[in-house]
Amino acid sequence: MAAGVLLFVAVNLACLAVIGNLVSGERSFSIDYKNNCFRKNGKPFQYISGSIHYSRIPRYYWKDRLVKMYMTGLNAIQVYVPWNFHETVEGVHNFTGDRDLEHFLDLANQTGLLVILRPGPYICAEWEMGGLPAWLLQKPNMLLRSADTDYVQAVSNWFAVLLPKIKPWLYINGGNIITVQVENEYGSYYACDYNYMRHLRTLLRFFLGENIVLFTTDGNTDKEMACGTLEGLYATIDFGTDTNITEAFKRQRRFEPRGPLVNSEFYTGWLDHWQDQHAVVDAQKVSRVLGEMLTMGANVNMYMFEGGTNFGYWNGADHDTRFRSVVTSYDYDAPLSEAGDPTEKLFAIRDVIKQFRNIPSGPMPPATPKFAYGFVTMKKVGNISGLLNTLSPVGPVKSQYPLTFEEMKQFYGYMLYRTTLPRDLSGPTPLISPLNGVHDRAYVSVNGVFQGLLERDTMLVMNVTGQQGEIVDILVENMGRVNFGSKISDSKGLLSNLILGKDVLTDWKIYPLDIDGAIAGGWPHSNSKKSSPSPQKEPLVGPVFYMGTLEPNGLAWDTFLKLNEWTKGQVWINGMNLGRYWPAKGPQQTLYIPGPLLSTTLPNNITVLELEGAPPHLRVLFMDRPQLNATADKS
Ligand SMILES: *[C@@H]1O[C@H](CO)[C@@H](O)[C@H](O)[C@H]1NC(C)=O
Ligand SMILES: *[C@@H]1O[C@H](CO)[C@@H](O)[C@H](O)[C@H]1NC(C)=O
Ligand SMILES: *[C@@H]1O[C@H](CO)[C@@H](O)[C@H](O)[C@H]1NC(C)=O
Ligand SMILES: *[C@@H]1O[C@H](CO)[C@@H](O)[C@H](O)[C@H]1NC(C)=O
Ligand SMILES: *[C@@H]1O[C@H](CO)[C@@H](O)[C@H](O)[C@H]1NC(C)=O
Ligand SMILES: *[C@@H]1O[C@H](CO)[C@@H](O)[C@H](O)[C@H]1NC(C)=O
Ligand SMILES: *[C@@H]1O[C@H](CO)[C@@H](O)[C@H](O)[C@H]1NC(C)=O
Repeated sequence: MAAGVLLFVAVNLACLAVIGNLVSGERSFSIDYKNNCFRKNGKPFQYISGSIHYSRIPRYYWKDRLVKMYMTGLNAIQVYVPWNFHETVEGVHNFTGDRDLEHFLDLANQTGLLVILRPGPYICAEWEMGGLPAWLLQKPNMLLRSADTDYVQAVSNWFAVLLPKIKPWLYINGGNIITVQVENEYGSYYACDYNYMRHLRTLLRFFLGENIVLFTTDGNTDKEMACGTLEGLYATIDFGTDTNITEAFKRQRRFEPRGPLVNSEFYTGWLDHWQDQHAVVDAQKVSRVLGEMLTMGANVNMYMFEGGTNFGYWNGADHDTRFRSVVTSYDYDAPLSEAGDPTEKLFAIRDVIKQFRNIPSGPMPPATPKFAYGFVTMKKVGNISGLLNTLSPVGPVKSQYPLTFEEMKQFYGYMLYRTTLPRDLSGPTPLISPLNGVHDRAYVSVNGVFQGLLERDTMLVMNVTGQQGEIVDILVENMGRVNFGSKISDSKGLLSNLILGKDVLTDWKIYPLDIDGAIAGGWPHSNSKKSSPSPQKEPLVGPVFYMGTLEPNGLAWDTFLKLNEWTKGQVWINGMNLGRYWPAKGPQQTLYIPGPLLSTTLPNNITVLELEGAPPHLRVLFMDRPQLNATADKS
C-alpha cells in the first residue's frame, strides 16, 4: 500500500477519535474540515452508498431493490431526479405513479437508507438529453447548461416546483437526504460558466436553506475539477476500478484541502450502446478497490448498484465520432441485475463492507421468480402509412420545408413526413441528406413500398424509384437525445432538406404520431375482431405493426422477451412501452418484462412496431433469463 494511503488512514482514525458534543436528539449533517470527515448528529460518519434510479424501475419493485441494497450493508443511496421525466410538457408536472419521487424517498427512509440527492438540472445518466426536457430546444439559440437567460428562467421555474417538495425530506428537517449535488460533472462541459453554477447555488440555498451540504462531482482531471467546482460547494470526484485511487484522491485534495474524501461515482460496470461489445467489470476488482477506498476512510457511492431499464424512449445517446444510441437495458453489470437479482458481485461487495461496519443480520431477499412463457406467434396489423387515421388523430401539419419534432411539439418516438415525387424517375435516383439532417433514422417508402433507409452520420444517401405524383412516406425515428458532451442540443426529425436527384423535396404533410396513446386506448387488440388482419401475402418489410397475445397462465412472473431474427423496432405489452429492440446489432437480445405488468387472468396484449423486416415465422419468445451480450458480427 502506498505511503499516501497510510496517511489517509491516519487522518481517518483521527476523525473517528473525536467525540461529538452535540445535544442528543438534534439532527445535523455537516462537513468536519478539521477532522476530514462528515458528521451526522455530531458523530463521524462515512457513507457506503449505491446509485439507483427510480425512473428506471417500476414502482412496485422499488421496495424490493431498496431492501436488497440495505441488506448488502449500504447506509445510503444516490438518486438522480430527471427533469424531463417529471415535466415532459412545459408547465405540466407529474409526480404520481412511477414518477412519485416522494414515495420513493419515503420507502428509502422506511428501509433505513439515507439519500444523496442529485436534482441536476442536468444529470447525464445515459438518460434522454441528460434529463433536460426536449421542449427547451424550441428556443433555437438557447445555450443549455449556461447562464443563458431563457435557460436559467426555465431551471428556476422547475426548481421552484421541485425543491419545496424536497425540503421536508432533508435529514436536518426529519427526512433522509444528507447531501444535494449541484449540476453534474459540469467541468466536462465546454461552457465552463461560473455564473450558471452561482445561480444554481443561489437557488438551492434559497429553497433548501443554509444548513444543507451542497456538493459537486467531476471527472478525474484538473480541467474538469477546475470548471466544475465552486466556492461553497464541496468538491468530490468520480472514477472507476482502473484509476490509481491515491492519485485521484490527491486531486480531490488539491481542490478541497480538508474535508472527507468522496468518490461520488465508483463504476461497478458500464453502459452499452447498440453494436458495442457488452461491458463487463470484474467483481473481484470492484470489491478489492472498494475495500481500498473504505480503508482510506473515503465515502464511496457505487454507480450503479441497481441499473434498471430505459423503458419507452428514455435511453440517451453519445456523439463522439458518430451518433451512438444507448441500449434499452441499463443492467450496467451492476451488483443487482436489471431484474433486481443479487449477483456474485453483490455478495463480494457485501463481504468487503462487513469488514467496515455491522451489516444487517438476516438473509438477502432472493431473486424474483422468472418464467419462460414460451413462443407467441404474431400477426400483421398493417403498415404505418395505412394506419394514419388511428395513429395520428390530429392529422398532418402542412409545411413547405420539413419541421423538427420540437417544432411539431412531439418530443419522442416516431413521426411521419409525407410528400410526392416531383417527377418521373427514369431509374434509381439518389435521395440525399446533404447536411446530415436525419435525426436519427428515416425509413423511406414510395406508394407504400419500402425502399430503404437513411441514418444519421452513416447512411446519407439511398436510391429511390417511382413515378411523378407517387406518395413518398418517410418515417423518422428519434433514437434518444445526446446526453453528454457539447452536442446535447440534439433536435430530432428532418433538420434540413432532402434532395432527390436535382430536386429539393418540398410541400410536406407532417403527421405527429401518438402510437403510445393509441395503444393505451386498446388498439390494435380492441378492434382486431372487427377488421380482419391484412393478408399475410404483403411483404414484411418497412415499418409494420404486428400484434399477438400471450395467454394468461395464472402467473405474473418476470420474463425476458426475445425477438429472434426480427431486425429493429419497439415493443409494448399491456400498454407499457418496453423500449427498443435491435438484435441485428446487439449486444442486447432480450427485453426485460417486470412480472406485475402481466395479467394472470386476461390475454396479455403484445404490440410490435418492426421498422425494417420481420422474420417469416413471426414468433417472439418469452424466456426465463436475459441475454445482453451477443453482438452481431456484421457491422
Ligand atoms: C403520470 O405518470 C404516471 C406514471 O408514469 C402515469 O401513470 C400517469 O398517467 C401520468 N399522469 C399524467 C396526467 O400524465
Ligand atoms: C424517516 O424515518 C424515521 C424513522 O426511521 C422517522 O422517524 C422519520 O419521521 C421519517 N421521516 C419522514 C420524513 O417520514
Ligand atoms: C499510484 O500512484 C502512486 C504515486 O502517486 C504510486 O506510488 C503507486 O505505485 C500507484 N499505485 C498503483 C497501484 O499503481
Ligand atoms: C399498407 O397498408 C395499406 C392499407 O392497409 C395497403 O393498402 C398497402 O398495400 C400496404 N402497403 C404495403 C407495402 O404493405
Ligand atoms: C444507386 O444506383 C446506382 C445505379 O444503379 C448505383 O450505381 C449506386 O451504387 C446506387 N447507390 C446506392 C446508395 O445504393
Ligand atoms: C387485451 O386486449 C383485449 C381486447 O381489447 C382486452 O379485452 C384485454 O383486457 C386486454 N388485456 C389486458 C391484460 O389488458
Ligand atoms: C453471456 O453471458 C452469459 C451469462 O449471462 C454467459 O454464460 C456467456 O458466456 C456470455 N457470453 C459471452 C459471449 O460473453
